Amino acid sequence: MTERTLVLVKPDGVQRQLTGRILARYEERGLKVVGLKLVRVERTLAEEHYAAHREKPFFGGLVEFITSSPLVAIVLQGPNAITVVRAINGATRPHEAAPGTIRGDFALETAQNIVHASDGPEAAETEIALWFDHAELLDYERDVDRWVLAPAE
Ligand code: CMP
Repeated sequence: MTERTLVLVKPDGVQRQLTGRILARYEERGLKVVGLKLVRVERTLAEEHYAAHREKPFFGGLVEFITSSPLVAIVLQGPNAITVVRAINGATRPHEAAPGTIRGDFALETAQNIVHASDGPEAAETEIALWFDHAELLDYERDVDRWVLAPAE
């Protein structure tokens, strides 16, 4: 099933100049970029994005970190995009992330794990609406799609 998911290249990924390499991993897999922007995150947006973690002891630090420097917000589209992107990213805790994943290759700390991705269809819908206006999401044809996507049945 075609899905959309939200990815954030967090401040550590941008500061470490990994944005291009991270984006390339999703593109090379065949996922389509339908939204992309550099964002200086307001505290209210950060708190809303991480609302599920409000009671966690690390919440304050998480909000501080995500607002500390610009991040890159991306919406990716493709078959099973939510699961595919989470596999590309690797486990949340980098010491559990397999080599070859973004976190398994570039991260050591859970608090600085380079990327965020929506963890399910509900989160994807909520997070995309939180980070992007409808007009910022572009649907378009790619010539390569006939080599990446199976024909609709
Ligand atoms: P993310 O996918 O952005 O979603 C929630 C984030 O909270 C997670 O990645 C981590 O960056 C962060 N996080 C989760 N657990 C901890 C923890 N124990 N200490 C610090 N940060 C954490």
